[in-house]
Amino acid sequence: MLWPSLILVLFISIRNSFAYIEYVEVSNCASCQMMLTCRHLSSVIAIFNATFQPYDDESSFFDDVHRFQLFPRLALNRRCSGVNHCSFVLTEDCPGAARWGSGNFTVKFACVSDRRIRRYCNDNITLPGPDVIGISEGLIRNPGYPNYYLGKEECRWRIRAPPLQQIKLTILDLSLIATNNDPDDCVDLFEVKEVDNSIFSSCNEQEPLRELITLSDSVDITLRASESLVARRGVLVHYAAVGCATPASPKDGYLVYRNDSTAVFTCSVGYVFADTLERNREIQCQGHRWQEKLPLANCIKLSSTLKDLFGKSSGGVNMTAKESFSDVLVPTIIIIMLFIINTIILFFIYQYKKRKTALYTEEELGTMPVGSLG
Ligand SMILES: *[C@@H]1O[C@H](CO)[C@@H](O)[C@H](O)[C@H]1NC(C)=O
Ligand SMILES: *[C@@H]1O[C@H](CO)[C@@H](O)[C@H](O)[C@H]1NC(C)=O
Ligand SMILES: *[C@@H]1O[C@H](CO)[C@@H](O)[C@H](O)[C@H]1NC(C)=O
Ligand SMILES: *[C@@H]1O[C@H](CO)[C@@H](O)[C@H](O)[C@H]1NC(C)=O
Repeated sequence: MLWPSLILVLFISIRNSFAYIEYVEVSNCASCQMMLTCRHLSSVIAIFNATFQPYDDESSFFDDVHRFQLFPRLALNRRCSGVNHCSFVLTEDCPGAARWGSGNFTVKFACVSDRRIRRYCNDNITLPGPDVIGISEGLIRNPGYPNYYLGKEECRWRIRAPPLQQIKLTILDLSLIATNNDPDDCVDLFEVKEVDNSIFSSCNEQEPLRELITLSDSVDITLRASESLVARRGVLVHYAAVGCATPASPKDGYLVYRNDSTAVFTCSVGYVFADTLERNREIQCQGHRWQEKLPLANCIKLSSTLKDLFGKSSGGVNMTAKESFSDVLVPTIIIIMLFIINTIILFFIYQYKKRKTALYTEEELGTMPVGSLG
């Protein structure tokens, strides 16, 4: 029993240590060479943020951003997204950046291990429920990213979260073909649909970073290409669960209230939670996790709790009742021990007094009733 579970725990921790997403932030000057590197060879870079802060308020940077839509993050994406390591010099690799003057260039990126990337089409992704240990975050990319994408057949992903949990999609990179004269007239299309309603569709890079939060617990993502192989990057999307799915109700209890941050469970009349011996339990959701050990302790019958505690109930003494039993047993033993020690001490005091009485033969002491000491 012990060995298989130990090996399983070991296996899970090894698996998780390979399946990681590590967030990194680097800063450098605009004309300096910036090296983005992932420690593990099987990890690739995903750019989350790239900001340039000119030291000179008069810098043409702000003007360029508004007028020419020059964004350092997009330039960085073209060079670094989806590879294991890269070097980037803002003034050289971002067209127009040379005239922005000096400033602080800061990049936030993630190193994402291979195991956290879904890279095959027609994949169903199921996010883990609240009672399961699992991974609620990852990346999706098309086969061939960042070198090419494939067409003819649709590439589809479906993400499902447990009920009441939502899904956040962050479109980190998107580069598909549009018609020559209009970049918004897409030839190929990336589309996000929720229950047949399109909530996003485009073929172009997005700035600022586009974040979509679904209303429901399911989303369909499609990449449609017109030709069988297109020499563009394709798409890179981050997905994560937001909010908490409602955990299972305890035995003999039920959910009474639920909003985005709180859930309240109550035991049926005459029952209490086995661990707290209270009827109500409020739990808090933070990020996508409940701040509570799940599953919740079962509700146990109030009238039977005392009987359970003293081990008189014939059948079905559950784990918690056993724990409470030891909670009662230990103090009881201590009280009995104290009682015994007390009696022994009193016995010696009595003996000592008796001897003193014998020594001094005082008449008043001799008349003292012995029983009053016990
Ligand atoms: C990116 O950086 C800018 C400027 O520092 C900040 O306003 C924005 O919230 C950041 N976005 C993310 C996703 O970190
Ligand atoms: C550049 O900006 C980052 C983030 O805003 C900050 O942590 C860093 O200290 C800045 N570096 C310099 C040289 O100003
Ligand atoms: C994904 O789910 C859809 C619909 O439930 C199903 O038709 C399809 O076969 C599934 N794909 C995989 C790879 O399991
Ligand atoms: C959820 O309910 C709790 C308890 O009633 C309340 O304190 C909290 O403000 C509510 N949160 C939201 C987002 O409505």
